[in-house]
Amino acid sequence: MGCCPFDQVVNRRNTDCTKWDGVLEVFGCDEVLPMWVADMDFRCPEVVVKAVTERAQHGVFGYEYCPARFNEAVVNWYRARQGWEIDPAWLIHTPGVVPGLTYAVLALTEPEERVVIQPPVYPPFFRVLQCNGRTVVENPLVEVDGRYTMNFAELEEIFRSGVRAMLFCSPHNPVGRVWTRAELDKLAALVLKYGVTVIADEIWSDLVFPGARHIPFASLSPEIAQHTVTFNAPSKTFNIAGLYVSNGIIPNGEHRERICALLERLSIGGVGIFGVAAGEAAYREGAEWLDSLLVYLQENARFVVQELGRIAPQIKIAQPEGTFVLWLDCRELGIPFEELNRFFVAKAGIAFSEGSSFGAAGRGFQRMNIGCPRSLISEALSRLEQALSAL
Ligand SMILES: Cc1ncc(COP(=O)(O)O)c(C=O)c1O
Repeated sequence: MGCCPFDQVVNRRNTDCTKWDGVLEVFGCDEVLPMWVADMDFRCPEVVVKAVTERAQHGVFGYEYCPARFNEAVVNWYRARQGWEIDPAWLIHTPGVVPGLTYAVLALTEPEERVVIQPPVYPPFFRVLQCNGRTVVENPLVEVDGRYTMNFAELEEIFRSGVRAMLFCSPHNPVGRVWTRAELDKLAALVLKYGVTVIADEIWSDLVFPGARHIPFASLSPEIAQHTVTFNAPSKTFNIAGLYVSNGIIPNGEHRERICALLERLSIGGVGIFGVAAGEAAYREGAEWLDSLLVYLQENARFVVQELGRIAPQIKIAQPEGTFVLWLDCRELGIPFEELNRFFVAKAGIAFSEGSSFGAAGRGFQRMNIGCPRSLISEALSRLEQALSAL
């Protein structure tokens, strides 16, 4: 392979990383190629390594507050990349996006209240609601020829029947959709008509391939901003999830007060020194790295689509417009759905995420993480080819 930095294979074993070191516990064997947990096997931008190293060399790691400099870097980033003008006063910081979603659910909805999600969707969307005594209301996406769209007619019925909030995944994991302005406008019209609060998970918003464009839901209009709480982060974008730094963007003063009051009640606050150093460096100096990454990821996606078309045309792939996960429809493989994940693990030696963990609509599907050097993808595909030929 060439000298592209993303081609470099970095050995992550024995670093206590979930994706490689956690496979034994989760999948029951060690010798599998891990393509499940959504982080990437790439080194993060060198500017981030440098910032963290310099901060480490100082050697004093006492309490830190989040400096205005960090917020300024966040504001500049979203203005430049997504055309979104964020007031720094709207920003809070959370250790992750999922914690942020949880705070918003706890602060803005009541126990047992109904909250909408759109499966197949990132499994913690179910967990956050169920573990906190909220009622999950499903508005499944609709799939036509591998392209998923929202079922607005059903969503309107649900809104009409009374819900306070919706957890909205944009871009969408696992189906890889980057919602268009027309789709967002339709959702926005319903949100305003029925007075729903949107808790938007935009963690994937920087990972959008050329040709698609992410539009932050809250940026649609000042009115919509008042109905929206957004969480995003440098974690997926720059592969720094282990540094636990995420942003909450809350334009509505009452929402902000309620969420901040909850954080105070739970004594959650503060930021990690290394997360702040890394996040600021990434937002300030990571754009070029990200642009190269996107080209590489899109090529990985093309490669998988092309090769699977050759070796396993029975597996259909949802058209990816962003993210680094692919949603594989394996329903025509002829393997019982309950045995599908075991087939990939035990017969092919590949650990994908099990489709049904994304909701009932994910039965018969697997999610493949393509955030890795192409040589690993090649290896996975040849293992799969062999396993299929033995069927
Ligand atoms: C939609 C979505 N939200 C949130 C996360 C992770 O959030 P965090 O690790 O920041 O809590 C992921 C990770 O895969 C994700 O896909």
